[in-house]
Amino acid sequence: MRVLVTGGAGFIGSAVCRQLVHEHGMDVINVDNLTYAANLRSLDSIAGDPRYAFEQADICDRAALDDIFVRYAPAAVIHLAAESHVDRSITGSSAFIDTNFVGTYQLLEVCRRYYDRLPADRRNQFRFVHVSTDEVYGSLGATGRFREDTPYQPSSPYSASKAASDHLVHAWFKTYGLPVMISNCSNNYGPYQFPEKLIPLIILNAIEGKPLPVYGEGTNVRDWLYVEDHADGLITLLQRGRPGEKYNFGGDSERTNLEVVKTICRIVDRVAPAPRPRESLITFVQDRPGHDLRYAIDATKARRELGWAPRGNFDDRIEQTVLWYLENHAWWEPSRATVYKGERLGLAQAQL
Ligand SMILES: NC(=O)c1ccc[n+]([C@@H]2O[C@H](COP(=O)([O-])OP(=O)(O)OC[C@H]3O[C@@H](n4cnc5c(N)ncnc54)[C@H](O)[C@@H]3O)[C@@H](O)[C@H]2O)c1
Repeated sequence: MRVLVTGGAGFIGSAVCRQLVHEHGMDVINVDNLTYAANLRSLDSIAGDPRYAFEQADICDRAALDDIFVRYAPAAVIHLAAESHVDRSITGSSAFIDTNFVGTYQLLEVCRRYYDRLPADRRNQFRFVHVSTDEVYGSLGATGRFREDTPYQPSSPYSASKAASDHLVHAWFKTYGLPVMISNCSNNYGPYQFPEKLIPLIILNAIEGKPLPVYGEGTNVRDWLYVEDHADGLITLLQRGRPGEKYNFGGDSERTNLEVVKTICRIVDRVAPAPRPRESLITFVQDRPGHDLRYAIDATKARRELGWAPRGNFDDRIEQTVLWYLENHAWWEPSRATVYKGERLGLAQAQL
């Protein structure tokens, strides 16, 4: 099977590409325009594999996509390309509308025309997996979990652009019969995550003895999902999901941001001792505007219909993640030195 993955040079997309090649022996075409968040070194383990191909292209560029679909004739698409950082969407939303909404629209149109021309046997097999987020559902209070039928109530420009793209994808199923499936997952963590997101930022700042910024009082809760479990879920969805359906993926690992930061501090203190405990570096900073209080996923449908479940537990996975960053300076040092040095993003100042 040949799978076209968009955003395969990013955090989750690279995990999907590696698993498709290593664990499933599938052919992969990675379509990515290499934004600041991309890192081709995440694909080193498959870069020389004959089953892997890379095409640098923007998903907003319909002609480029048409050409790629003609040349590779993929059997399926897993769509992950996106602007993914909420804080950046607050400071400058334009790229989020372009890629997440317009780019998804262009990709859907290319897929629809491609799908319509496929012979019947290949059309029956074709699938389009759209990777979205639990942030489309908005914020939970102290109780409850998101189900697939939870109404959409996005709070940030990022989550609004993802919600809009989900609606497009579903409409292309209802109107044109494109066999799409939508996944909504909770926050991912693990190796190869660009160090602007909470967990890698805190790990690297702790390693370097820098302040550990925590938004507000650190009480926001996320349901942390290990990236390899999520990639496994997306591939399982591709193989077993029902077209037209949505599936939630979560890690069953709710933690407040402050708990996550303190856990990382304890691990870094143990494996790389320093004169002062890392917790002394915790600095409470102005909260993110529109910061959702709590996300939690009910993944019953994915468990029941797909037979999917996260494989590990948060405590082991977060330790493995810290160790990975300690052992892989060469992966993160170049982007930390040039692309993003850890400065505060996402305060609601004028648009970029
Ligand atoms: N990281 C999370 O915790 C999380 C949680 C829920 C959902 N998601 C969703 O999963 C997907 C992947 O997230 P991620 O964390 O791996 O993101 P990421 O920012 O690490 O990677 C995104 C990738 O998409 C590429 N890209 C961006 N714009 C593009 C364009 N116009 N054309 C082609 N490629 C483009 C980038 O170059 C990058 O390689 C996104 O759709 C995101 O909304 C992520």
